[in-house]
Amino acid sequence: MTDTYSVTAEFYDLLQATQFLRTAERLLDRWLGTPHVGILDIGAGTGLATCLMVGRSDVTVHAVEPAAGMRSVMLSRLAGRSELLSRVRVHARGLQDLGLSGVADFAWCLNTMGSLSRAERAAGLAALATAVVPGGTLVVQRPPAEPGAERADLPSWQLGGDLYSGEVACVPTGPELVEWRFTYRVARDGILIREESETFAGHLATEAEFAEQLAAAGFAPVGTDEPDVVIARRIRVRPATPAG
Ligand SMILES: C[S@@+](CC[C@H](N)C(=O)[O-])C[C@H]1O[C@@H](n2cnc3c(N)ncnc32)[C@H](O)[C@@H]1O
Repeated sequence: MTDTYSVTAEFYDLLQATQFLRTAERLLDRWLGTPHVGILDIGAGTGLATCLMVGRSDVTVHAVEPAAGMRSVMLSRLAGRSELLSRVRVHARGLQDLGLSGVADFAWCLNTMGSLSRAERAAGLAALATAVVPGGTLVVQRPPAEPGAERADLPSWQLGGDLYSGEVACVPTGPELVEWRFTYRVARDGILIREESETFAGHLATEAEFAEQLAAAGFAPVGTDEPDVVIARRIRVRPATPAG
């Protein structure tokens, strides 16, 4: 379990849910199909997609989320809603430590792979391959290949007359490493009344490198989508891992 996202969890849904839900609904319309075994939501965050997937299926949705702050928001979202409580199982751990076998025929991982180092991605994808039954579908957003804009605004929203806004700054810190600094601001009558920041380590990977890692874990590509999403099928036999 981690205390990362301890600052971000407060602002995540307010600033980003509207945009994220539009993307998630479009991707689910296209790729979810009708799962019969179960669903895995990896890096489930505040549970936005988790709840969409409950509404669109009849199977258990496994929400995998290591950060306590994000899980707290997720549990609040589930609280008191029997249709969600009976169908979501929360796993308070990282993908690398998933430890589940054959629980899903649909897996989903958006906006998360960039938090994992190369070795963590390999371990995570191997754990995912064990958790997904052969023939199952994986919808995964690739880690970024490039550092991205030096600075970008997050969406902003009015709340009780206050303006909540945010920005993300990206600084390269090594050949495949970046640091993302998220700053959140609350302004009242045009005057800044709060500012909070949180910094995350990010890991870059080329498309080719990530494709190799998927293949090594036992996933064959079947399509692509936006933003930077790969659709892959869990193949029956995992390729032998090279020695060493
Ligand atoms: C940017 S948030 C995205 C949340 C959600 N997928 C979305 O798109 O709204 C990334 C999430 O991945 C989680 N995460 C980070 N490392 C992880 C790991 N090793 N395994 C699973 N989730 C992880 C974080 O705690 C965080 O909630």
